Amino acid sequence: VDVNGVPTRTIRADPVAGWVEVIDQTLLPHRFEWVRLHTVDDAANAIRSMQVRGAPLIGVTAGYGLALAASADPSEAGLVAAAELLAGTRPTAVNLRWAIGGLLERLRPLTPARRSEAAWRGAAELAEHDVAVNQAIGRHGLALLRGLTPRRPGPLRLMTHCNAGWLATVDGGTALAPVYAAAAAGLQVRVWVSETRPRNQGLLTAWELSHQEVPHVLIADNAAGVLIATDQVDAVIVGADRVAANGDVANKVGTYLKALACAAHQVPFYVAAPLSTIDSSCATGAGIPIEQRGGDELRLIRGLNAAGAPADIRQVPDAGPVANPAFDVTPAHLVTALITEKGVTF
Ligand code: MRU
Repeated sequence: VDVNGVPTRTIRADPVAGWVEVIDQTLLPHRFEWVRLHTVDDAANAIRSMQVRGAPLIGVTAGYGLALAASADPSEAGLVAAAELLAGTRPTAVNLRWAIGGLLERLRPLTPARRSEAAWRGAAELAEHDVAVNQAIGRHGLALLRGLTPRRPGPLRLMTHCNAGWLATVDGGTALAPVYAAAAAGLQVRVWVSETRPRNQGLLTAWELSHQEVPHVLIADNAAGVLIATDQVDAVIVGADRVAANGDVANKVGTYLKALACAAHQVPFYVAAPLSTIDSSCATGAGIPIEQRGGDELRLIRGLNAAGAPADIRQVPDAGPVANPAFDVTPAHLVTALITEKGVTF
């Protein structure tokens, strides 16, 4: 994606100097700032605090976290402790464990002296793999979108939830990859962007779509039903944090309600995700751990104050009881098709 005219990836590293930089997504869409990570603890904190987020990007960040750890302490015990620290940051997205597990397996047989270099190389390969995979998802998804007929005259109207775009990956996005491919191919598209309370990742989607000049409209999450019911949505396309062996899909909370509305109105509901998001050890969605996040995500709203500085506004008193499940599971029978780098599965 171009940021101010410069092609930019969401994560970059200097193995010689021993740092990794990520875009601080907690400051977006108001501020675009890089944050530098020097240690595995920095990487774990960036994932936990959601400075980086989105299943593919947290996987790659964890890969670089392991590289930072290997530079500091390449012993077997050091690597295992780092891997456990990183794996414990967020429970639902399986890409995290996939990235860490794969890299650890690669480093273990090496002598400690060779592990640091191999870890940095492995992390960079994870990043390149993500970019290539997303390009393939974009190609396969575009073919699917080309087959749709708009329900009303005008552009193809797509709806997405959360942010499964460039910001959630190293580059290109998963759910947004077909959207970007469609726009590049000259297909007329317009995207309904669901706000995605409580953390408002939809604002990240709106931010990146505007940088790519893709027509889009921000909506409150609760507006999805009426738009789907009144022929204003030709397809919903979302990402995934984990897909069970039977095809059940865990994704950002609110995804399931969109899938239900789509099924009720015969609107296609597509999930775009890399194969690394499929967890064959999880038989059904019931086995997917759902992250429960802190209540302040509901009690406080982040924005800019009158002076234009980032600020939190309290909308619920301190003691107000709240629940904050961060993901939900959409059963496989509500998913029209799964788009991966290998193609489209109905
Ligand atoms: O809590 P988040 O913001 O990390 O959740 C992100 C999502 O739910 C995305 O849809 C998913 O990770 C796919 S990102 C390509």
